[in-house]
This record gives sequence, C-alpha cells and structure tokens, in this order.
Amino acid sequence: MDERAAVDLNLANWDERAAAHAAPGTGYVLEAYVEDPHKISDVVAFDRPRLGDLRGTRGVHLQCHLGTDTLSLARLGARMTGVDFSPGALHHASALASRAGAEIDYHRADVSDGEAVLAAVGAARYDLVYTGIGALCWLPRIADWARLVADLLVPGGRLLVRDGHPALLALDQDRTDGELVLAFPYFERPEPTVWDEPGTYVETDHVFTHTRSAEWNHGLGELVTAVLDAGLQVTGLAEHRSIPWQAMAHMVEVPSADGAGEWALPGEAADRVPLSFTLQATKP
Ligand SMILES: C[S@@+](CC[C@H](N)C(=O)[O-])C[C@H]1O[C@@H](n2cnc3c(N)ncnc32)[C@H](O)[C@@H]1O
Repeated sequence: MDERAAVDLNLANWDERAAAHAAPGTGYVLEAYVEDPHKISDVVAFDRPRLGDLRGTRGVHLQCHLGTDTLSLARLGARMTGVDFSPGALHHASALASRAGAEIDYHRADVSDGEAVLAAVGAARYDLVYTGIGALCWLPRIADWARLVADLLVPGGRLLVRDGHPALLALDQDRTDGELVLAFPYFERPEPTVWDEPGTYVETDHVFTHTRSAEWNHGLGELVTAVLDAGLQVTGLAEHRSIPWQAMAHMVEVPSADGAGEWALPGEAADRVPLSFTLQATKP
C-alpha cells in the first residue's frame, strides 16, 4: 500500500475513534479529569519517577489523542503543547483542557511528516518530547521520527517515549490458548501490516465505518539506532513486563508501584517477553 494512502487510512480510522473514545463512560473517562483537578493519567503516573520535576519546563506531546496524558503532564508543572493529525481528537483535547482550566496549545499535523510538525509549532522548541502508548506503530520510518524529536528539542532537552514493545507487536495477539507465537514483522518494513477490525480498545456501542488501519513495527535496535543517529544521547532504556492495555485475552491486571492499572502475561510467561519499554534520551 502507498504510504500516503496508509496514513490517510489511519487518519480516517483515528478520527472516528476519537469521538467514540471521548463519549462519557469509555475507558478515557474525561469527566474524571474535570471533577478531580489533581488527577493524573495512569500512563503518565507509570513513568512519573522517570519524568522527574517538570515544573517550569516546556513540553510537546506527539500523537496526543484526547489529551489526557498532555493534561497530566501540564498538571505536573510543564507548559504543554499537543500534536495530533486527527481534528476530532484535537477538538476533544482542547475542550478537556479548557474544562479543566489548563492552558495547552494544540496543533494539527501529521507526525510522519517532520516538516509539517515543525511548521505547525512554529518557532517553539521544547525541554521535553513525550509520546507513546500506541504511537510509534502509526509512523512508517522511525529514523524520520527521531530526527523530528531532535529538531523539536532545545539543547539539554530530553525525550521520554513509552510504547508497546516491538516484540509484543510481532506476536499473534488474537491467540486464546496462551501460546506466544511470532506472526508479524519485528523489524521495520516499507509495507505496513493492514488490519481490518470492527471495534476499538475501549467499550463502545459505536458502529465503526473506518475499520482499516496500517501499522509499521520498529525493532528496539532500530529505535535506539535512530535516536543515536539523530544526535541524541540515550540515558535510559527499561523493558517492562506490563502494558496499559489488555493486549491478549489471557493477560491479567497487575497494580504498578504507583497504583496505575497495567496488564501482564500470567505466571512464568511474564518473564518470556517484554510488553512495553521506556526510552529516554537527551539532546547535547
Ligand atoms: C493510541 S493514541 C496514543 C495517545 C495516547 N497514548 C492515548 O492513548 O491517549 C494514537 C494517536 O496517534 C494519532 N496518530 C496516528 N497516526 C498519526 C500521525 N501520522 N500523525 C499524527 N498523529 C497520529 C491518532 O490520531 C491518535 O490520537
């Protein structure tokens, strides 16, 4: 599939999902962020020890979706900007920020097009680039993304990305017999893996019309190499036994240190394959 067509497929898919995800009662529970002015998303809470003190910093959240993590980072003291290509996601993210009384800038841009992102944010450069949890798999070339991250950072600025581990993304996640079977590419390929799925990862009655999406995996070595080639210094790489979503039916819910809900493989399988990773890097 042509790369432009694949990104357009994803745009239609994500724009439709944004509305369904923002509906009251879904997994994103946007109302909870308005009701509780101290609420931090589970995803941001998981990496809080690695994020450190954000007060007085400027941050950009790439592929910010409904802005729950963006708002959480703002609540930790960062002056946040969010970028996403979905107008629907940005509409709900902006509404959430304004209902929560947070000053967050949102820009629409395709993150697979670095020039477009730089044009959208203008002259702004950031102390923190934050992204992840279902973000990198929508980008065709990890090297392009790493160059964009480097361009967005001020000298001394840093990247924190936590995402699904490429080893998990290579597994057949539909298996219900507990077997871990490699069924999809681990390494980046020009051709995406195209899915056709009727639903999404939150409970919803919405009947989707844009059911197809295109994903690219990026091996962990490819990711680290891309970050190094972009001129960043890797300061941390943690592989985790858990992930914030139930990727496979036999996964079990586990509490993490900060109480954030995570999902893990049961028993000894938990030690067999990493489910997510957190990569940190700084711009010299
Ligand atoms: C699973 S969400 C990740 C955000 C966050 N972890 C969350 O769950 O709220 C994926 C987001 O990536 C965005 N996205 C996918 N491909 C993109 C692209 N090429 N450029 C910009 N945003 C993109 C989608 O619109 C969606 O909002």
